[in-house]
Amino acid sequence: MADSLTSDVATGRALLAPALAQRGGLCVLTGAGMSAESGIATFRDALTGYWSRFDPMDLASEDGFRANPERVWRWYAERRAGVRAAQPNAGHIALANLARRLPGVMTLVTQNVDDLHQRAGNTETIQLHGDILHDQWLGACQRHRRGGNVCDPDWAQPAEPPSCAECGNLVRPGVVWFGENLPLRALNAAEHNASNCAVLLVVGTSGAVWPAAGLASRARRQGATVIILNPAESEIDAEAHLVLRGTAARVLPALLATEGDGGW
Ligand code: OAD
Repeated sequence: MADSLTSDVATGRALLAPALAQRGGLCVLTGAGMSAESGIATFRDALTGYWSRFDPMDLASEDGFRANPERVWRWYAERRAGVRAAQPNAGHIALANLARRLPGVMTLVTQNVDDLHQRAGNTETIQLHGDILHDQWLGACQRHRRGGNVCDPDWAQPAEPPSCAECGNLVRPGVVWFGENLPLRALNAAEHNASNCAVLLVVGTSGAVWPAAGLASRARRQGATVIILNPAESEIDAEAHLVLRGTAARVLPALLATEGDGGW
């Protein structure tokens, strides 16, 4: 680690120390950069990000899916395979270790649709943008409309995408697309935790997508210290009291090392 980053990490540890003594004292918000070192592409990094190669409206909107369901289904199937093959990195593990050592202190909010935080051990992770491994119906279930039980997407006829044998409803991935609302319960929980923490640690997000990006200003307005960890500039750097220019897998283990690792 470069000397200036080492000294910024020491500053970060000093800012974190009081937050780690309180229930809910630390709120962590993660974005695609969190999983980059696990081999999962980000969205907006030039060259490697998905949105540098594809139009998000084609692949991440209801209109795009309706226009070309097979293409969109296949794109998500590839991404699902990538998520299943990936492993949590040292950053995910550092967050899970902290939660285990200091129960109740940290809340974790993610924009990521992979399950790497959960597999590292953070089973309570709040997922703002859904879950790529989950299937759901595109339209309302007709049987449910007629007063019956909702059909299970697992019953759909296999195809790309699978569809309902009765009404033709298509199966789609359980992620939030552009133009759609975030799951209300997750958003409420994220806003509550950001409003009530002592430190908000923001890892690996460009800060380009709202309402997630607004959690940093919300936390700061409520008196929290905001720390941003990102190797590049983000759109919310101005909200930060401290910016750490490094990567999740390299910096989080040093920033969050707890007693057994020679830290708190
Ligand atoms: P972006 O792709 O917009 O931003 C990724 C950020 O991660 C950038 O700021 C990078 O500099 C940073 N980064 C890259 N490698 C990193 C590393 N190893 N460690 C730490 N940071 C690193 O991703 P998000 O901000 O998460 O929506 O994007 C927000 C939403 O836009 C996503 O949730 C997705 C997308 O459309 C949905 O899937 C619904």
